Amino acid sequence: MTNETNLVALVTGANRGIGLETARQLGAKGVTVVMAGRSEASIHDAARALSAEGHKVVPVVLDVTDDAQVEAVRARIEADYGRLDILINNAGVITGETFMENSAATITKDALRTTFEVNLFAPVAIAQAFLPLLKAAPAARVVNLTSILGSLTLHADPQSPIYGSKSLAYNASKAALNMATVHLAALLQDTPIKVNAAHPGWVKTDMGSEAAPMEILDGARTSVELALLGPDGPTGKYIHLGEELPW
Ligand SMILES: NC(=O)c1ccc[n+]([C@@H]2O[C@H](COP(=O)([O-])OP(=O)(O)OC[C@H]3O[C@@H](n4cnc5c(N)ncnc54)[C@H](OP(=O)(O)O)[C@@H]3O)[C@@H](O)[C@H]2O)c1
Repeated sequence: MTNETNLVALVTGANRGIGLETARQLGAKGVTVVMAGRSEASIHDAARALSAEGHKVVPVVLDVTDDAQVEAVRARIEADYGRLDILINNAGVITGETFMENSAATITKDALRTTFEVNLFAPVAIAQAFLPLLKAAPAARVVNLTSILGSLTLHADPQSPIYGSKSLAYNASKAALNMATVHLAALLQDTPIKVNAAHPGWVKTDMGSEAAPMEILDGARTSVELALLGPDGPTGKYIHLGEELPW
């Protein structure tokens, strides 16, 4: 992908955190970014800020769990651009008062359902809804924000740095999104479309907390890299800052 100024991207959860910074960095590359957020006021504020920085951004209201809103955004992008070059499924949640509250011993079905609604069902449904528009683009890219905490290999290894971080709802939802990423990439292997899972790193956002070692600027880099992959780039991979992670 060389001419980034012609590209159109959709970023979910773009009103704050990694999604907002991803929109900013794509905007800085000349990409037109449709910024999606579930709060109208919040997404308009975020878009106004990026627009004032000179980026081409369009705010849309999208609760990723709301099928009617997904369809409305799809119809608008079809009408305005006729294609979608980049889909970044960025919106995500951790449920529960504390991260470790959701252990295998204490997890509730409600916590699992709520987390899976946003972290798995929504990105799968959004990719399905946008598939015709992704196919209409010359070489579309789909980036699913998962997490290193979705790695079964690392969770099974007592020596791994994430071994102690066993919050079941979040981790299982991201492992499942990893699986959805591999499946969609396989379905599209004979097309120019690339589909990858991004681990942004442990990033200083509302979700990552102040304890996180990475700044938001760096936390958006993996998403942006995968969004702008060239024709020789990977597909069906699990990536953090250019390095492959074990599933
Ligand atoms: N931060 C980290 O250390 C880290 C590490 C690994 C992976 N990740 C992943 O990276 C992604 C971004 O995380 P972040 O750190 O930027 O999190 P964040 O600061 O908590 O932001 C989460 C974003 O998701 C949006 N969102 C949540 N539920 C939504 C829904 N139903 N519909 C639409 N938007 C919704 C939020 O919108 P509202 O403002 O309306 O709530 C917000 O924009 C997530 O998928 C997360 O799991 C983050």
